[in-house]
Amino acid sequence: MKDKIRLDKLLANSGFGTRKEIKKAVREGRVTVNGITVTDSSFHVHSGQDTVVFDGVVVEYREFVYLMLNKPAGYVSATVDPKQATVIELVPERFRHFELFPVGRLDKDTEGLLILTNDGKLAHELLAPKKHVPKTYFVKVNGRVSPGHGKRFAEGVILDDGYKTMPARLSIVHSGDVSEAEVTIHEGKYHQVKRMFAALGLPVVYLKRIAMGNLSLDESLAPGDVRELSTGELTLLRP
Ligand code: URA
Repeated sequence: MKDKIRLDKLLANSGFGTRKEIKKAVREGRVTVNGITVTDSSFHVHSGQDTVVFDGVVVEYREFVYLMLNKPAGYVSATVDPKQATVIELVPERFRHFELFPVGRLDKDTEGLLILTNDGKLAHELLAPKKHVPKTYFVKVNGRVSPGHGKRFAEGVILDDGYKTMPARLSIVHSGDVSEAEVTIHEGKYHQVKRMFAALGLPVVYLKRIAMGNLSLDESLAPGDVRELSTGELTLLRP
């Protein structure tokens, strides 16, 4: 059986207003549960079973939301920051009440795929070091990338603090004075991709995440755009 939830909480989670506004509306008799007017906000409903109607609109209740953001540079991967713009500021108003947070972090200057959700369990699974969820990045570096660098990545790279990374896959897109490559890593150390290339003498000048797990960034999403994941995409994302 599905969980029971307070009527005002269900309506607030579904975007029908603040708890205060909802309490007032309920008192005014604007809400029915299974066809019967309920004026007490503390009334408990079965979220998956009972039919709740607010001002004639059937309430589609859901607990969790999963958004794909094409993160632009210039935003920090946090929910609040005293000085800098956060990725939460890019979330459309209709999703704000869900209290979303980013799954992991991209650097302020990194672009690309960032998942925003309020599903703490999924976030934990995606970030758990033992799960080794792959993350793929498109990268531009100063300097010529060669197959030898690919071999170094495959063996694991020793970072500036002496840590040896897990094997990573490097696929060269273009080799020149500024080279382009795709790299897949299976862990998430601080500034990991930038530090891996730095260890090889190749400073990163541009970084964009293009996949997480089996989920790829929707390239039709403009930087700063957000959309909900489809059910199929959510399945691809789950480790
Ligand atoms: N590695 C980095 O160096 N930066 C990121 O934002 C993500 C991975």
